Amino acid sequence: MAPICKKAVVGNVTIDVAPLETISLELLLRGDERERMKLYAAAGSLGFFYLDVSDSEKHLTDVERLYSITENYFTQPEQELLKDIRENDEFRGYKGGKNWGSLEILRDDVNFSEELLPPIIQADSATVESFISTSHEIVHLLLAQLSKSLWPNSEKHLQDKHRATERNNSSLKVYRGPSLERRADVGDNTHTDGGSLTLLYTDKWGTQIELPWSKEWAWVEAKPGHAIVTVGDTLQALSGGRLYSCPHRVSQPVDGFEERWAVTYFFRPENNVSLVPL
Ligand SMILES: [Fe+2]
Repeated sequence: MAPICKKAVVGNVTIDVAPLETISLELLLRGDERERMKLYAAAGSLGFFYLDVSDSEKHLTDVERLYSITENYFTQPEQELLKDIRENDEFRGYKGGKNWGSLEILRDDVNFSEELLPPIIQADSATVESFISTSHEIVHLLLAQLSKSLWPNSEKHLQDKHRATERNNSSLKVYRGPSLERRADVGDNTHTDGGSLTLLYTDKWGTQIELPWSKEWAWVEAKPGHAIVTVGDTLQALSGGRLYSCPHRVSQPVDGFEERWAVTYFFRPENNVSLVPL
């Protein structure tokens, strides 16, 4: 039977809340088999789940600091933001428009010091490095656990397409917005994530997912101490469709909703990986 959505009231609107499973990072780290099975079920059904990281105090401190860094970054005058545009580069730099903006920082650039952080962020480079490093450890743990569930008696591993020795486009991306006077003015941006796994930290309503069993939209609730994890197209392809990359979109539940900040880690495979089953 399809899970039932609970309801939430935001402003004067009642919304459906997506029934996401919660997976404990602590239990996964301890090698708990039931938690690994829960992870596999969540990644193969909805393709969205909460990861409880409440025991990772340093990581959550980094996330809090990144919210302030993000807010500070986007208060700069537009001419400063425009200096961070990287033309024809999908994975680096500033992108933005009226009421929204994003800044993406590649893990490889930070590790190899190939591109300096924007000046306003340089004093916080330790936080950026620490967030990226811990996020990368977390997604590799998820990858190993999913591989064990996908191919229990085989030498196949999702890690084979995410080797530490190979360049990739994994990144930290921070967002501002959207926040519009009229919810109806938010354009349709339905998509699936192209990479392997996304960790999203936010404290506000902003993401809707398409429930696979009804094709109806439900809102993802922001939970303190939890990352919202998304399975991307790469894992769906490498797993032969046993992991699910769920269509979702960014919106706002009511008119004139307050500004929203988000901190994400996009975990992507080695460059030039073929999207075929392992
Ligand atoms: Fe997305």
